[in-house]
Amino acid sequence: MLTGKTIVLGVTGGIAVYKAADLASKLIQAGAKVRVIMTKNALEFVTPLTFEAITSNSVITDMFKTDAEHRINHIALSEIADIVVIAPATANVMAKIAMGMADDMLTTTVLATDSPVVIAPAMHTAMWENPVTRDNTAKLVKRGFHIVEPAIGRLASGGYGPGRFPDTEVIVGHIKMVLGQNSDLAGKRIVVTAGGTQEPIDPVRIISNRSSGKMGYALAEAARDRGAEVILITAPTALSKPVGIRIITVETAVQMKTEVENAVANSQALIMAAAVADYQVAEVASAKIKKESGELSLKLMHTPDILAEVKGNFLKIGFAAESQDLISNARIKVEKKRLDLIVANDITEEHSGFGSDTNKVVLIGQDGMPESLPVMSKREVADRILDRVCRLMNVQPKT
Ligand SMILES: Cc1cc2nc3c(=O)[nH]c(=O)nc-3n(C[C@H](O)[C@H](O)[C@H](O)COP(=O)(O)O)c2cc1C
Repeated sequence: MLTGKTIVLGVTGGIAVYKAADLASKLIQAGAKVRVIMTKNALEFVTPLTFEAITSNSVITDMFKTDAEHRINHIALSEIADIVVIAPATANVMAKIAMGMADDMLTTTVLATDSPVVIAPAMHTAMWENPVTRDNTAKLVKRGFHIVEPAIGRLASGGYGPGRFPDTEVIVGHIKMVLGQNSDLAGKRIVVTAGGTQEPIDPVRIISNRSSGKMGYALAEAARDRGAEVILITAPTALSKPVGIRIITVETAVQMKTEVENAVANSQALIMAAAVADYQVAEVASAKIKKESGELSLKLMHTPDILAEVKGNFLKIGFAAESQDLISNARIKVEKKRLDLIVANDITEEHSGFGSDTNKVVLIGQDGMPESLPVMSKREVADRILDRVCRLMNVQPKT
């Protein structure tokens, strides 16, 4: 979604400047055009060459410089920016922006732009917690600036606390979310489930499955990036938690059902990408089952069928992971569970199914007509599913 977007990256004089180079690199890799403005004090930490090499663009450091390379109108970047990102943002630059000052190229650009501005502060905890910085941050939020909360952790200046520069992927997540806030799913609330549920046998053992959660997380992020309010109900996964999404963690199918029932009220769609266990242990042992000679039998009983049982006025999208008779089995599920759409995949196919970064799926709506998609990244599959969700909502998809 960053392809072709012009991102003006403001870099200010904090110790985390070197991390902004990684951010610039990731934005370029995601297809964005990046124009960097560095403050005079940022130049004390790194030279513009790093950013020039990464972005293949000259770096603006001086509003008054008149050589050909830098001859640029003082508000030119404010006009071409799809978004302005200040990372790292010093306490100083936040104070200046909160005051409306425009005494260098970065603050002038921010004052002149109509585009959204994302600010990623990084500073020593004492500076971040100073009442003046608190006031300035509150003022910026009130004026519509989007603040990425600094992380809590070890600080370059010593000590431990809030003020650390957030991970690159967190800042990129905020940029995508802000860029997508007026997109086709704006104003919609979508519930997504992800991961494989874990059904306990005893306090240490579980029955689970090979679901990685990647498809559900890709759907949640794609819906967020298209402006939706997203609730992600996730079984345990190894994935990092996406920003800008309400996340509810569950373990069992029964817990997932309760959370889904709570979440779907006032939602427009439920997308069940989770691999919910079909069976749970009938009697969970309260103490660890001792290893003994001979066989051990477990009595299993059905878990609730969340998709079939949850009712309400929202679109129901299910997944069918099949290893045979893909289309006919998926059609049966559409009918039996009264689904608006099913995403069927043959887990025996290469590049498809559990754990993979790609997927090859067939989409089947209530008309039973299969739409076969080629092998795609799970994020691309997510966007194609959301295109269908938009049409089901009578919204023209923007992708
Ligand atoms: C080694 C060093 C590290 C600094 N790190 C930070 C920092 O992480 N965050 C911050 O707000 N200020 C930091 N400062 C102070 C800023 O550089 C100073 O406030 C400066 O005026 C910021 O200018 P600018 O906002 O125009 O870039 C640091 C200063 C030095 C000398």
